[in-house]
Amino acid sequence: VADIPKGFLRATELAHELVAERLVAGDAAVDATAGNGHDTLFLAGQVGPGGRVIAFDIQDVAISSTRGRLEEEGVLDRVTLIHDSHENCVRCLGEHGVGRLKAVMFNLGYLPGGDRSLVTRPEITVSALQSLLGIVVPGGVITLILYIGHPGGSKEAEAVLRFVQSLDPGRFEAVHYLKIIGSKPPPELLAITVR
Ligand SMILES: C[S@@+](CC[C@H](N)C(=O)[O-])C[C@H]1O[C@@H](n2cnc3c(N)ncnc32)[C@H](O)[C@@H]1O
Repeated sequence: VADIPKGFLRATELAHELVAERLVAGDAAVDATAGNGHDTLFLAGQVGPGGRVIAFDIQDVAISSTRGRLEEEGVLDRVTLIHDSHENCVRCLGEHGVGRLKAVMFNLGYLPGGDRSLVTRPEITVSALQSLLGIVVPGGVITLILYIGHPGGSKEAEAVLRFVQSLDPGRFEAVHYLKIIGSKPPPELLAITVR
């Protein structure tokens, strides 16, 4: 039967599914690592013309790439692009009048096609995650795609996993999705929802 999928969802596809179940028109969301703008574009589609997406990246080239993608799709007007580290996200969100969020996406590691030395850092990622968890509304979700194939990747994945496992189960629920047989070290997904 043509419609039966050949393999399991990729971590990035599952992240979109988990966010799509919760993020609806008019909501506010953050893309903590804009990169080439695939996740920002997805979030912009979900929140619709009345919603807001704030996207961060430390690299000018990533901000330009994301802007180009959003312009092409005609959704730039509902997105604020911030050329800054996500560790400053809560202050930046306040400055842009955004208080509470329904969804946050992190896609860690380096910019595909870019400088592989500019990667997300464990302590910064965990600090940003901790701050953002404080402003996600009940029913909202945070997704993180973790990579272990580049230098520093497994240390970051371990740090993030350790932090998420330490969260209060009375306030949060979390899942970990990892393909255990597949090609290369596959990316992993962590998703946290607020009760
Ligand atoms: C794997 S890419 C993101 C891919 C992106 N989500 C997409 O859909 O194309 C990771 C990005 O994180 C960015 N980054 C690294 N450290 C950061 C930080 N502290 N704050 C914000 N972005 C950061 C990198 O510049 C890179 O563009």
